Amino acid sequence: MTPGLASFTRLLPKAELHLHIEGSLEPEQMFAFAKRNRVALPFANVGEARAAYAFSKLQDFLDIYYAGAGVLLQEEDFHDLALAYFERLHADGGVHAEISFDPQTHTDRGVPFDAVAGGLLAGMAAAREKFGITSALILCFLRHLPEENAIAALRMAEPWLDRIIGVGLDSSEAGHPPRKFARVFAAARERGLKCVAHAGEEGPPEYVLEALDVLRIDRLDHGNRSLEDAGLVRRLAASGMALTVCPLSNLRLCVVKDLAAHPIRKMLELGLRATINSDDPAYFGGYLLDNYLRTAGALSLTRAEITALARNSFLGSFLDAASVSRHLAAIDRLEAAPAV
Ligand code: HPA
Ligand code: ZN
Repeated sequence: MTPGLASFTRLLPKAELHLHIEGSLEPEQMFAFAKRNRVALPFANVGEARAAYAFSKLQDFLDIYYAGAGVLLQEEDFHDLALAYFERLHADGGVHAEISFDPQTHTDRGVPFDAVAGGLLAGMAAAREKFGITSALILCFLRHLPEENAIAALRMAEPWLDRIIGVGLDSSEAGHPPRKFARVFAAARERGLKCVAHAGEEGPPEYVLEALDVLRIDRLDHGNRSLEDAGLVRRLAASGMALTVCPLSNLRLCVVKDLAAHPIRKMLELGLRATINSDDPAYFGGYLLDNYLRTAGALSLTRAEITALARNSFLGSFLDAASVSRHLAAIDRLEAAPAV
């Protein structure tokens, strides 16, 4: 990719719609938090931690990701974690983010829900102040645990729901179909929350259908395996459903064998509202801009395709219509500027 196209990509206003804040925990920060909180780590040093980030499937990653999250104990940890992420997003030309968190990972260790949500929201407010970045919070349920636990998490979140935009579904996909969470998603929708779910990352296209029909999702996380079902693709395209695709995650978790084989261009050609996101950047080797640049480089994406991906990130966001128009207008202005 040319330096001109790389700098255009960085300057493009972008939203990140699929980011697990616990997955932005860099090893250096993990060690700093472990020291501050006097928590023992299974790694001797940062190098050893990074060396352990070699995964052949989703579960390999999840085991390490949940272990890493064990250093997050105090409200200030969640604040610092969020602010460090937004600092990187700002450097990448990101202007808006809808970030997920996994409360059960923390409350099950005895960390109060209020410390988690309070810390993250304070970090989000600081990012708005410091960088002008807007953001929203998505509460994810852990699908490897029973639905009753998700219902308890939603109940715990009750006092915070006016500051949470929606609910999601993450963790081990295989063997944990969306229909397992029908009741808790119905309860969330009744409370006016948006609904998103991971589906079709490792799981079959039927899980995407269940996420649509049973959970009634507003946005699809990953969705790669939707491409195996032509009827499903037509339905997703016709409804304008956004897919939050994560190329470097797909590479590291062996969802694709190399980036040159990534289906993101095909998704655009099929009329899908595909977006680019980083998922768990500290574990998958790159933040938002790295995901754009490495994917664009491997697939020789054109300026028009990169722009379409950035536009989709706002069109697929939960921002109000006026904010979406404002961001799209900023993209139009950059696009109209002479190419460098
Ligand atoms: N998939 C499922 N669960 C997750 C992921 C993911 O990519 N990241 C954090 N939890
Ligand atoms: Zn994810």
